[in-house]
Amino acid sequence: MKVLVYGGTGSQGSAVVRNLLKRDHQPIILTRNPEKAQPMVEMGAATVMGDMENADSLVEATAAVDAVALMAPAFVPNPMLVPMYVQNAINAAQQAGNKFIVYNTSGPVIEERTGQPAYDMRLDILAMLRDSGVPHVVVQPTAYMENLLGPWTRPNIIAHDTLSYPVDDHVRLGWIATEDVGALIAAALEHPEYSGERFKVSGLENVTGPELAERMSVGLGRSIRYYAMPLEAFGAALDAAFGPGAGAGGIAGYQFQRDNADKISMYADMTPVLEKLPVQMTSIAQWAAQHRMAFQ
Ligand SMILES: NC(=O)c1ccc[n+]([C@@H]2O[C@H](COP(=O)([O-])OP(=O)(O)OC[C@H]3O[C@@H](n4cnc5c(N)ncnc54)[C@H](OP(=O)(O)O)[C@@H]3O)[C@@H](O)[C@H]2O)c1
Repeated sequence: MKVLVYGGTGSQGSAVVRNLLKRDHQPIILTRNPEKAQPMVEMGAATVMGDMENADSLVEATAAVDAVALMAPAFVPNPMLVPMYVQNAINAAQQAGNKFIVYNTSGPVIEERTGQPAYDMRLDILAMLRDSGVPHVVVQPTAYMENLLGPWTRPNIIAHDTLSYPVDDHVRLGWIATEDVGALIAAALEHPEYSGERFKVSGLENVTGPELAERMSVGLGRSIRYYAMPLEAFGAALDAAFGPGAGAGGIAGYQFQRDNADKISMYADMTPVLEKLPVQMTSIAQWAAQHRMAFQ
């Protein structure tokens, strides 16, 4: 299969690319910057120049493939344009002959409008897909383990053996490795007959903060404790890493999650998912062991 991969040079899309290659498919990375794709080209991926803002470039790129791995980019100069980007991608799949799409929501979905743009946009994209008539499957993950590499967590593990994260001790999260989301998407791309299904996916462990730290301790081979980071401290870490102002958005996002915890599902029963999409899942301890160097 030839698969057009949106965001294939980024952290989520590159996991799709690697897993397509493992399954002997041909990923074609849509990118504005082919040089960013070089490591994956060396592994066997191809690239096509395209910009989600430029509808024609997407039509041309989609005509040459069998299926599409779609995600919405996040860190763009004008986030208001992202729904248009995604609509362009869906239109291109439709014009190219209703090419099968697997859409990664990149996070949980709240099933009603909330006024929070990141969540409302996911609902809008699901509606665009339904309205388009293009065959599609949705993969809906929870929290990525890679968040633990962020500047609010990693430096404190390195310096203080403390896993700081802006979530209260008792809250359970089904952390999932980005690589596993990529594997599930690559598997779903082989099944156009699942069209119309939405797979809610998470890791296999649904853990509190202290349990997360215990499992990280196993993988890292040293004792790590959990610290439920106050939102102000989280915001300060974002400001320090990404520049003044970044923290306010991060604080608002996590405050929203706290206020709407009853509507946001952060764990999925993976038994029925893995029956349809059999992939090898990564445990938290395995993920920590794979990333041991990053935490030294
Ligand atoms: N659930 C979680 O725990 C979690 C954690 C982290 C992030 N996320 C989500 O992950 C997403 C970010 O993904 P990421 O980390 O993979 O992003 P990333 O590493 O920043 O990569 C962004 C990708 O988007 C592509 N892109 C951006 N603008 C584009 C445009 N105009 N046309 C074509 N491609 C464009 C870039 O391609 P080129 O530059 O090559 O053109 C790049 O491949 C967000 O939706 C975020 O909410 C979720």
